[in-house]
Amino acid sequence: MLKISNVSKTFNIGTINEKKALRNISLHLEPEDFVTIIGGNGAGKSTMLNMIAGVYPIDSGVIDLDGVNISRLPEYARAKYLGRVFQDPMRGTAADMEIQENLALALRRGQSRGLRWGISGEEKEQYKKLL
Ligand SMILES: Nc1ncnc2c1ncn2[C@@H]1O[C@H](COP(=O)(O)OP(=O)(O)O)[C@@H](O)[C@H]1O
Ligand SMILES: [Mg+2]
Repeated sequence: MLKISNVSKTFNIGTINEKKALRNISLHLEPEDFVTIIGGNGAGKSTMLNMIAGVYPIDSGVIDLDGVNISRLPEYARAKYLGRVFQDPMRGTAADMEIQENLALALRRGQSRGLRWGISGEEKEQYKKLL
């Protein structure tokens, strides 16, 4: 469950470049919901996703994910709770690694990781079937 409540964000507050990007945005998603956000250039779509991921701090409001208030967590700490696919395919993936190795990295999200071989034979079989 993702619950965004009254989130606002203004860039460059108090300067000539001040820009109110989000004004009291609220959104409530349940598991398995599929949502498309549509808006003109500069409407605030990317800013909203950046606020959820923690790229920039929000000015006000609350972002709650599965009962955890993630509003004030830095981006790296939120990575435990959420994944993201970027518009730019070079971001968010390791280009030098195989697709199955990238999938294995994603699968281990939120788990503690040690130093061992990155992908098991069982996982390789599973990915082969899925792909
Ligand atoms: N890092 C930033 N610094 C200053 N202004 C920004 C920043 N990111 C976005 N904005 C401004 O916030 C508004 C919303 O931008 P954005 O979220 O990128 O829109 P969209 O993704 O819907 O096209 C725009 O006016 C944009 O110029
Ligand atoms: Mg955008």
